[in-house]
Amino acid sequence: MHFTLTEEQQMIRQAARDFAQQQCLPGVIERDEKQIFPREQVMQLAELGFMGMMVSPAYGGSGLDTVSYVLAMEEISKIDASTSVCMSVNNSLVCWGLENYGTEAQKQKYLTPLAQGRKNGELYIGAFLLSEPEAGSDATSQHTSAVDKGDYYLLNGIKNWITNGSSASVYLVIAQTDNTLGSHGINAFIVEKNSPGVQVGAKENKMGIRGSDTHSISFIDVKVPKENRIGDDGFGFKFAMKTLAGGRIGIASQALGIASGAYERALAYSKQRKAFGKEIMNHQAIQFKLADMATRIEASRLMCLKAAWEKDNGLDYTLSGSMAKVYASETAMWVTTEAVQVHGGYGYVKEYHVERLMRDAKITQIYEGTSEVQRIVIGRSVLKD
Ligand code: CAA
Repeated sequence: MHFTLTEEQQMIRQAARDFAQQQCLPGVIERDEKQIFPREQVMQLAELGFMGMMVSPAYGGSGLDTVSYVLAMEEISKIDASTSVCMSVNNSLVCWGLENYGTEAQKQKYLTPLAQGRKNGELYIGAFLLSEPEAGSDATSQHTSAVDKGDYYLLNGIKNWITNGSSASVYLVIAQTDNTLGSHGINAFIVEKNSPGVQVGAKENKMGIRGSDTHSISFIDVKVPKENRIGDDGFGFKFAMKTLAGGRIGIASQALGIASGAYERALAYSKQRKAFGKEIMNHQAIQFKLADMATRIEASRLMCLKAAWEKDNGLDYTLSGSMAKVYASETAMWVTTEAVQVHGGYGYVKEYHVERLMRDAKITQIYEGTSEVQRIVIGRSVLKD
């Protein structure tokens, strides 16, 4: 066992760090306040090859490992979690799902431009449509229906909380095809956003990750060609679960980045802010906070990297991914709250960034499976042993 990164992994981390500092930091407060989607930043991520990091070069990807993806996600999330969630969804949920379960034709048509993040010079990304108004954690309770009409499926229903909802060109939609079969009566489909009958709802006015575009999406008699179904009939729920298992490594890394971004700001602030005649870092009350932050962040980082390493080595990463997500997201919430506290009154205003990081942290405990869902996954695994 060794803990050293390869030269390539270190280069990726540095490239992500430079990108975040130079391209994401300017304007991040304004994008948050005005809910501006970071289109320019995502286009630049595409140029860097970060929108299809783990996809084979044969399909337009960068052919990198999951460890590199974790490193890049941490660096970008330190500065701008609205940009990193867009990257995470495209990489982990959309590209990974298509590369592993799509047909050759689906990969040629959709995966290749999605991994490149652009098509004909325009942004080209995907979204993952599982959640519904009444199907969040209980993902089997799908109400969106896809009725087999011979050479196409007729899709009707509403999806909620969809990241990349309006900016995506391609949706991976999970829908019920036979409501008597439970999770075995569910399928996954590739749906082009510009198909007749697809309606994008209003942008959600969120607490955090306000730059990311979250929408509800309605489907009214949308005709989905048969060849756009992913996998065998009834594979949709397993497709969603397998895809989300990897997605959770991405969100764990996002949470890790939010935590380490807040910690770095708290540390720097504690070195320059004076109170009672000395820099506040020299007060034990602050030192102990910083020590606990650093320890929990390091534990989160190791958990993210272990899950990524397991994925890269063909091992089952469902448990380690869920553990990493629940631990890193709870760390992010705690660290960011403490980072605001270290900053005192300055932490409560926007210019110091930590209040935004605190708001951004919250969603990592909710999306791609709440902390409670992660505990279901972990609990079931533990009980099997
Ligand atoms: N891999 C493969 N198969 C799996 C699996 C996995 N990780 N997890 C479950 N399955 C299979 C089971 O083996 C079972 O198959 P069989 O019937 O053949 O035995 C089938 O799927 C049903 O599984 P369960 O009985 O475990 O299903 P459940 O109803 O008890 O639900 C759950 C389990 C873990 C709670 C699941 O519903 C879940 O993960 N819910 C959360 C959903 C979620 O993460 N939503 C996030 C939305 S996407 C998002 O946030 C993206 C974004 O935009 C940021």
